[in-house]
Amino acid sequence: MGPHYVMLSFKGSILFFSHVLYLSVVAATWCWTSDGQLYDVACPGEYSQLQCPEGHVIEVLSVQHGVKSSADCTARSQPAVVSDKQCIHKDMLGWIKFICDKLEHCRLPGPNKEMFVCEYSEDTFVQITYKCNKKSADVRTTVVCEDQAAVIKCETGVLNIVKANFGRLDMNTCTDTPSDKTFCASYTAAGSLKSMCNGKQSCNVTANAATLGHPVYCDALPHYLTVDYVCQ
Ligand SMILES: *[C@@H]1O[C@H](CO)[C@@H](O)[C@H](O)[C@H]1NC(C)=O
Repeated sequence: MGPHYVMLSFKGSILFFSHVLYLSVVAATWCWTSDGQLYDVACPGEYSQLQCPEGHVIEVLSVQHGVKSSADCTARSQPAVVSDKQCIHKDMLGWIKFICDKLEHCRLPGPNKEMFVCEYSEDTFVQITYKCNKKSADVRTTVVCEDQAAVIKCETGVLNIVKANFGRLDMNTCTDTPSDKTFCASYTAAGSLKSMCNGKQSCNVTANAATLGHPVYCDALPHYLTVDYVCQ
């Protein structure tokens, strides 16, 4: 590992200290700035968890990795010293953004072999960097449990779908048994809804796979549809 890693941890330390300073200023004044970057470090055996304050939504910026000894696993919002090698699969960032962007909270699988294209070891952490943006006041959300139908409509203006998922992005919606698979998503749900609803005053949607596509990374608990939309 030699000189390469020495240089890395040197660069990392500078970053680390500037963020510690920033975070302690935030903690001391109990305020939160909308342009600040947030971090989640998932050490082995943990799920990645991103959380924004109420009324704010996630925008994922990057996903990085490193070895556990260069992270503080007890303070997971503190940035860790990451590797400069690109060992995380190139599709991961897109997938994480697909699941988490525009949600207030999301929970993803933690470090595992499938995410990595090189040198995965059992002491590898994954760090996701994100921002919280203020949620636009005119975005409305509708939730429809599997096999139910709902009419989404605008009193004035026409529908414009902002985000939609069919699957499951939290533990408790539409189920009495909490689910562990909070990253269960259909890749085609948003596209289907847009073509059914955009530009119309109302649309009647049935929350099922036939209409919205089969979600992946799911358990056997009921799925549900979530739609964020604006009337314009
Ligand atoms: C919506 O569609 C479902 C399924 O086709 C139907 O049973 C229901 O009556 C419709 N609702 C409205 C308000 O049109």
